[in-house]
Amino acid sequence: MKQLPLGDISLETFLRDYWQKKPLLIRNAIANFEPIISADELAGLACEEEVESRLIIQESADNHWAMKHGPLLDEDFANLPESHWTLLVQAVDHWHPQAQALLQQFDFIPQWRIDDLMVSYASQGGGVGPHYDNYDVFLLQATGSREWQYGGLYDEHSPRQENSELMLLADWTAEQTVTLNPGDLLYIPPKVGHCGTAISDDCTTYSIGFRAPSHADILHNFSDFVAQDLSTELRYQDPELAIQKHSACINPQAVDQIKQILKQYIETPGAIEQWFGCYMTEHKYAQQQQELYLDNSVDEIIEAMQQAEQICKIPGTRLAFQHTDTDQSDAMLLFVNGMCCQITRQQQAFVIQLTESDSVLATDLAEQPERLKLLANLIKIGAYEIN
Ligand code: SIN
Ligand code: CO
Repeated sequence: MKQLPLGDISLETFLRDYWQKKPLLIRNAIANFEPIISADELAGLACEEEVESRLIIQESADNHWAMKHGPLLDEDFANLPESHWTLLVQAVDHWHPQAQALLQQFDFIPQWRIDDLMVSYASQGGGVGPHYDNYDVFLLQATGSREWQYGGLYDEHSPRQENSELMLLADWTAEQTVTLNPGDLLYIPPKVGHCGTAISDDCTTYSIGFRAPSHADILHNFSDFVAQDLSTELRYQDPELAIQKHSACINPQAVDQIKQILKQYIETPGAIEQWFGCYMTEHKYAQQQQELYLDNSVDEIIEAMQQAEQICKIPGTRLAFQHTDTDQSDAMLLFVNGMCCQITRQQQAFVIQLTESDSVLATDLAEQPERLKLLANLIKIGAYEIN
């Protein structure tokens, strides 16, 4: 059985007592833990145009937190102070296969809920200050030591410090203080205040962050999804219009008519199912997806695949599936980076295999024309690559 990074705590206990409820510290969560990225590699990533990064420097004179968004320049690194700075690089799993493999250790939470692996690198005293997040986070110490203070629930009404754009909490009082060393893991639920401070140089922390769309985003996105296929000729109608006393009155029949229109789209069989799968698998940086084989036919791709040793998931690719039949055996939808396709009964076990590993060996594809075709299509849309 797969070893979970939860120490002595069973998954049942974690989900029942901690997940989305209260923080949990797990000492030595990952056996024989080895860092996956060096400080130099991380700095290199932060200088790349397509990588999302931030450099935060705490200016001691006025306790001001200065933030610079990447791409960073060599001179940003050359001008760093001795201490009290931190570099944050988002979605390292998109650039680093080992980071992608590390994320898989957290797939005891559905993988479509996982957002990315952020890596922070801090000098002595560095950190991002007291704050809360609207999503769950696992904080894994990779190198050096960090003191974490945490506790208390905060929200959008909590007072903020005025001296930065970081939305730091004012009047921060921690309930717990712990020091994390390499391999230790701290789980922090949404809205719980936390503040990490590097207590050594070369302090690297990996944050496994989750996707928790806001209700506003859910509504916007679902409406866009439904509306894209609707004719503008479908209109509000009132053929039963009755005489009304006051012309300005919006009567209950009119409101009902609007509720019926909205209900009709929410209740369309399969609509929410399909939308939600597409939504939760949207690529974090959709504009960066590369469709290397877009101009090649499926047959040409299959020919190239037959020369390969393995076919690999491109880091950052998001997959999910959904059984669409009540007896859970017949129909299946596969969602890939915000797209959806119907899977035949014969292909279902293979699809599950795809979601649970990063690569497919050529030997798994020999004499399997259906598998080859499915993977060729996934290569065509930039989700897999030939290695
Ligand atoms: C950090 O790694 O420095 C900050 C991560 C967080 O607070 O979520
Ligand atoms: Co945080």
